Amino acid sequence: MSTPNPKEIAGRRAAEFVEDDMTVGLGTGSTVHFTLVRLAERVRDERLRIRGVPTSIDTERKAREWGIPLTTLDDTATIDLTIDGADEIDDAFQMVKGGGGALLREKVVASISRREVIVVGPEKLVKKLGSTFPLPIEVVPFAHATVERRLRTLGALPTLRTREGRTYTTDNGNLILDCRFEHGIADPHALESDLARIPGLVESGLFIDLAHILVIGHPTGECHVRKK
Ligand code: 5RP
Repeated sequence: MSTPNPKEIAGRRAAEFVEDDMTVGLGTGSTVHFTLVRLAERVRDERLRIRGVPTSIDTERKAREWGIPLTTLDDTATIDLTIDGADEIDDAFQMVKGGGGALLREKVVASISRREVIVVGPEKLVKKLGSTFPLPIEVVPFAHATVERRLRTLGALPTLRTREGRTYTTDNGNLILDCRFEHGIADPHALESDLARIPGLVESGLFIDLAHILVIGHPTGECHVRKK
């Protein structure tokens, strides 16, 4: 028998929070992948009626292919529930996101969501943000070198993200600077304010006070749900 996949356990469990007639934010990544699979099953088998708001081109493609009805932000003032992944989450439910490059759309969607459910495996739980994963920062191409210099003055060690030897470009046509912090992120709130004052910096992967429910899948097959 194969070992249970924590991502699959968390992703599928979170889909059970979705109720009929909800507008649902659809996050991005390999854990949310399983949420989409389960939601598609529920749409097909239970005739669940939802409107999904995808946070990336990848999620939009999967949702369309698997029959999850979609809408856009143009027609959506408030989202009932969003399900998304995280790269790190601490005890206060503050997060680092953007490993998959979708941080900008994910944060816009989170900002108008009544409830944000985060799906992770146990390796994403941290005591201090920035201790296991670099903080992704989305920048306009024109300003990336200027932003990079400013980030260094804040103690960050930025690296321009590449994929298969080429500069990585987000769904919005921007670049990503992955920022390491030698001793982790001491004060996430203060860093968020500092980052918001850098021209050319579009958005950071710091998600402060945006998560409400945490679903943790375990390799034992167990699933734990924590509420803020
Ligand atoms: C994408 C994200 C993802 O939610 C995050 O990277 C987690 O991904 P995964 O579930 O594949 O580990 O922020 O921008």
